[in-house]
Amino acid sequence: MTTLWSGRFDGQPDADVFGFGASFAFDRRLFEDDVTGSIAWAEALANAGAISEDDGRAMVSALQAMREEGRRDSTFVNGPDEDVHSFVERVLVERIGEPGRRLHTGRSRNEQVALDLRLYLRRRIPLVQARVAALVAACARQAEQAGGAVMPAYTHLRRAQPVLIAHYWLAHAAAFRRDHTRLGAVRDEAGELTLGSGAVVGTAYAIDVHALAARLGLPRVVRNSLDAASDRDFVASFLHASALSLIHLSRLAEDLVIFGSEEFGFVELDDRVATGSSLMPQKKNPDPLELVRGKAGRVIGRLTGWLTTLKGLPSGYNKDLQEDKDAVFDVEDTLSACLAATATVVDTLKLHTQPCAAAAEGLLLATDVADFLVRRGLAFRDAHETVGRLVRRLVDQGRTFDSLTDDEWREASPLFDGRVHDAISAAASVNARTTPQSTHPQAVAASLAEVREWLAQTADHR
Ligand code: ARG
Repeated sequence: MTTLWSGRFDGQPDADVFGFGASFAFDRRLFEDDVTGSIAWAEALANAGAISEDDGRAMVSALQAMREEGRRDSTFVNGPDEDVHSFVERVLVERIGEPGRRLHTGRSRNEQVALDLRLYLRRRIPLVQARVAALVAACARQAEQAGGAVMPAYTHLRRAQPVLIAHYWLAHAAAFRRDHTRLGAVRDEAGELTLGSGAVVGTAYAIDVHALAARLGLPRVVRNSLDAASDRDFVASFLHASALSLIHLSRLAEDLVIFGSEEFGFVELDDRVATGSSLMPQKKNPDPLELVRGKAGRVIGRLTGWLTTLKGLPSGYNKDLQEDKDAVFDVEDTLSACLAATATVVDTLKLHTQPCAAAAEGLLLATDVADFLVRRGLAFRDAHETVGRLVRRLVDQGRTFDSLTDDEWREASPLFDGRVHDAISAAASVNARTTPQSTHPQAVAASLAEVREWLAQTADHR
């Protein structure tokens, strides 16, 4: 086995240690991008007069043919090579001979692998974003189907105030849209050309790096060759954006595990996405949601691991950086799978409106009772105390506001008049909200329309 660096050494490397350092088993996933970068580099070398036009043309057409072959048949990308860069160069030289041996002129694998991973993420992030958008669409469909149905909104997992179920779904959609935006920012961050940096101090050939960047669809060129060799901030950003997205998925999963429990009964998983027990015949378990929640830990671990890898590196390229690919590929696969599974669960989820509505009546209307007094001139702090005392009495007697007689209301405060009965209900509570981000039915309808508009635009831009 010859390597890209065997000239320097007398004998063969230790097979096990060579295997330990080799990355082809996983960086073969960069094949498409490695060839794309090499085609552009061959053209740039010819344009700079560093190689002949003929050699440049021979390389470009052989590389294009290889890329086609790799797209058609993934088993083509295979061999005893150290990494994908060695594989591409070996096959190129086998096919066109001497001109192929000029491809690496003025280029280092350090800048090459950094470019490959940038190109890879720029190509793949939109696919992840499409899955995020599909999940937002599933949340929007649930919001639409829920109509005017209400449930309790919780704080501290205790009933707080009534909320439209549509508002609940749009809350999760809002978080997923931030993930979409954040992934877009990572794609932009990755948009820097590293070629021209050489191994560490820059290249000695007159490469037009701005033209090369434009040729590869990259908006910028790196600022500093020494920094470029080891800058993997964009990897950390991708892992961070993904970890946050997994956290959002995990929180939705946790909600649905709770809301689907016998104790709540607000929602029910479709049979297609639920699992049974090998022992207990009655069980219908939310396994996919639990698995999403579990995988959030794995992705957070990838981010933490990667930051830890970076923290002790001296300037310039270090082999530690090879670990970036395992992290990126694993997180991409995990996030994509979690997004798809969650979208299916949400899409097929059954809503039980009756238990939701029942849970949205009762003492969680206390804030509305206090607001009733405020509207009749009482200071909010006094209203809070008055209603607090009333609640304490009702809790002791196991009653709720709707059981109070006119006399009992007036006993609590002379400001309560006959209109209090109409003012204190879940429907009245949501209707009393005024701000655009609130659960007022009109505000929610406007939010839903805005989400639909965003989804249409997002689909257009793909
Ligand atoms: N497989 C290596 C990586 O992923 C490629 C760069 C190798 N560069 C080097 N100087 N050994 O980082």
